[in-house]
Amino acid sequence: MMDVEKQIMDFTVLTLFPELVSSFFEHGMIQRGIEAKLITGGCINIRDFSCDRHKTVDDRPYGGGSGMVMKPEPLEAAIAFAKKKTPGAKVILMTPQGTRFDQKKACDLAARKENLIFICGRYEGIDERVYNQHVDEEISIGDYVMTGGELAAMAIIDSVSRMIPGVLGSCASFQSDSFIDDRLEYAQYTRPEIFNNLKVPGVLLSGNHEKIKQWRQTSSLQRTFIKRPDLFKTQVPTTEEKQILRQWCRELTTLVNS
Ligand code: ADE
Repeated sequence: MMDVEKQIMDFTVLTLFPELVSSFFEHGMIQRGIEAKLITGGCINIRDFSCDRHKTVDDRPYGGGSGMVMKPEPLEAAIAFAKKKTPGAKVILMTPQGTRFDQKKACDLAARKENLIFICGRYEGIDERVYNQHVDEEISIGDYVMTGGELAAMAIIDSVSRMIPGVLGSCASFQSDSFIDDRLEYAQYTRPEIFNNLKVPGVLLSGNHEKIKQWRQTSSLQRTFIKRPDLFKTQVPTTEEKQILRQWCRELTTLVNS
């Protein structure tokens, strides 16, 4: 049986601008994850699979209209090459028409550890026949249109990789992330203790782990309430959270009435 914990997750990016993506694999936590053999990542230049003299990768849309469409032949050949390299990989098309990416999706992809091939569209998109025959899933990183899918693919690879145990170094780090359980992360402080006349909250210097935990939970709830109250709709407050919010409400009432 395959040891799931030891399985390396591979990210392959099909792009017309490999330089844009390759440096991403050579820096920070992603580079560390690759060095630690927890993930692998690489780019394939779709243009390398164009067979004509001019290395053409795009053409005018049938039916007319502005812009160009990515030709099917080079893209299909690039997908076939990537699939041969990483058999069984899932093919994801980066497009604003896809399902919206979020932290839950990142967790999901990291847990599955399936190898992923990202198609980064350019111009007006890819030929529909390649989409129909080779794409397993479409993902968008938000309701806005970029000039290509590269930034979107990197955003996904980054957020998925950091959830793979070991990539962030310590196993703790991502458990307190924003959006875990639909709450934002608590406020953070580091040295110096006083900065611009502002002191770090005393409880964080107390060494009392239980009190620190409580303070952080309160901070997390306050931030969520102020910045992203919509998250209380997707994940309604627990009894404990309601108690904390009521206490905060009492403190605010005392403050405004004083
Ligand atoms: N390509 C262009 N815009 C995009 C978006 N918002 N998400 C994913 N891929 C894209």
